[in-house]
Amino acid sequence: MLELNKIYNMDCVQGMKLLDDCSVDLTVTSPPYDNLRTYKGFEWDFKATAKELYRVTKQGGVVVWIVGDATVKGSETGTSFKQALYFKEIGFNLHDTMIWFKPNCFNFGSNNCYKQSFEYMFVFSKGKPKAINLIKDIPNASAGKVMKGGRKHSDGSRDIVPNFVGSEYKRRFNVWSINVSAKTYGHPAIFPEQLAKDHIVSWSNEGDVVLDPFLGSGTTAKMALLNNRNFIGFELNPEYCKIAEKRIEPYLMQQTIFELLR
Ligand SMILES: C[S@@+](CC[C@H](N)C(=O)[O-])C[C@H]1O[C@@H](n2cnc3c(N)ncnc32)[C@H](O)[C@@H]1O
Repeated sequence: MLELNKIYNMDCVQGMKLLDDCSVDLTVTSPPYDNLRTYKGFEWDFKATAKELYRVTKQGGVVVWIVGDATVKGSETGTSFKQALYFKEIGFNLHDTMIWFKPNCFNFGSNNCYKQSFEYMFVFSKGKPKAINLIKDIPNASAGKVMKGGRKHSDGSRDIVPNFVGSEYKRRFNVWSINVSAKTYGHPAIFPEQLAKDHIVSWSNEGDVVLDPFLGSGTTAKMALLNNRNFIGFELNPEYCKIAEKRIEPYLMQQTIFELLR
């Protein structure tokens, strides 16, 4: 098993081969997709990556796979769907297909379509997710009111449940509206800290191991540390590794001090 809380400058498939079976609680990642960006010629093998992810994920662990499709000769490639179906084929459960809506997106795609403004966030799980901490931040119009309810069945009948009081906030929708980061740290395809954080707190618990096989500028690593999780990151490009290392340095030091004080 590799040392935790380190960035490894290597191909992610080779890197994951050094991890034990069932050793990762959560993966949050955005792979390079459809050659939209070349990352200076660095390449990756999708099927081998998916298989290694399945092997290293713990039972009940989750993989969040954030992707979009390129448009080639007037047609979207559909690569994201093909990948999602492959993850299912090798044993993952497709727990949820979520959308990252980018309100401040400026790359709108083809002029013949409505403006392109989202990416898919496929949430795969190995069996039933073991950590589900759904974020409740939608103000509830029925907060404090006594309500009746119960699940409705296909024949129209309802379970009878005792009266309950509406809570202040409701469960969030699975479309997340999060601005594209203004700060890029010199990386061409960084995802927002908020996005990484919200998935980390939703699908893992404190002390868990969070993997990002395509770490880029280190967003997942930073948010894992800030939320009291451990991380492992693989990144093939040495320039991005340096950026990521610099970015997480203060949080690593903070974690070491906490460990010493414990
Ligand atoms: C979409 S970016 C990830 C950005 C990251 N989420 C962030 O917030 O900075 C994908 C990254 O994967 C890296 N990469 C490409 N092929 C790789 C491979 N085989 N193994 C590890 N990293 C790879 C690229 O260099 C690029 O930095």
